Amino acid sequence: MPRPFFDHFRFVAPVYDHVFGAGGSAPDLAEPLALPTPGYLLDVGGGTGRVAQAFSAQTGGAVIVDVSLEMLRLTGRHDGLRPAVGQVERLPFASGQFDRLLIVDAFHHFFEYDTAVRELWRVLAPGGRIVLLEPDITRWPVKLIALAETLLLMRSHFFRAEQLHAMFAALPGAHVEVSTDAIEMHIQLIAEKAAP
Ligand SMILES: C[S@@+](CC[C@H](N)C(=O)[O-])C[C@H]1O[C@@H](n2cnc3c(N)ncnc32)[C@H](O)[C@@H]1O
Repeated sequence: MPRPFFDHFRFVAPVYDHVFGAGGSAPDLAEPLALPTPGYLLDVGGGTGRVAQAFSAQTGGAVIVDVSLEMLRLTGRHDGLRPAVGQVERLPFASGQFDRLLIVDAFHHFFEYDTAVRELWRVLAPGGRIVLLEPDITRWPVKLIALAETLLLMRSHFFRAEQLHAMFAALPGAHVEVSTDAIEMHIQLIAEKAAP
């Protein structure tokens, strides 16, 4: 059963791309994502497709999965994106379907972190990679964002770099690298799944 939730993002969806910038960190992500690839890219918690729209031409296809219908509706502004409604804790995809997974500023919003990590790993193809960007909670501006999200009852949970590393490094066949200086104010995690 999908988990019931309150969609905070429905209120910010119409202005989201204007406030956070179309494309976001996309120029810095093509290399970590090892693009181009003929395989499919899945942007999990991809919202409006703000970031993934930069990659649809460099992949076999870009899919955005998100729980917020209002955010997903706006993916229609971009060519080549395929929206899918779903929760990361129960992804509506076959195992090994995606060569690349992208998660930008969404992990701290997920409902169940261990389940989410297992599901991300399940849908990733052997030889594929996950690139995850999370605000770095050790930085003061991010601590203020975390406080604001707490006051807004957004149930966010921010993890430190070493905690994210431990979660992904425990997965079978995972090779994980974490950096806190690749993208401003962010933790960048790259997790590669060993080819058979
Ligand atoms: C801060 S927004 C980031 C959107 C996009 N990644 C970007 O950078 O523009 C977080 C997104 O995660 C989605 N989200 C939160 N919890 C989720 C879950 N359990 N499964 C799928 N998406 C989720 C929200 O609906 C929202 O669109």
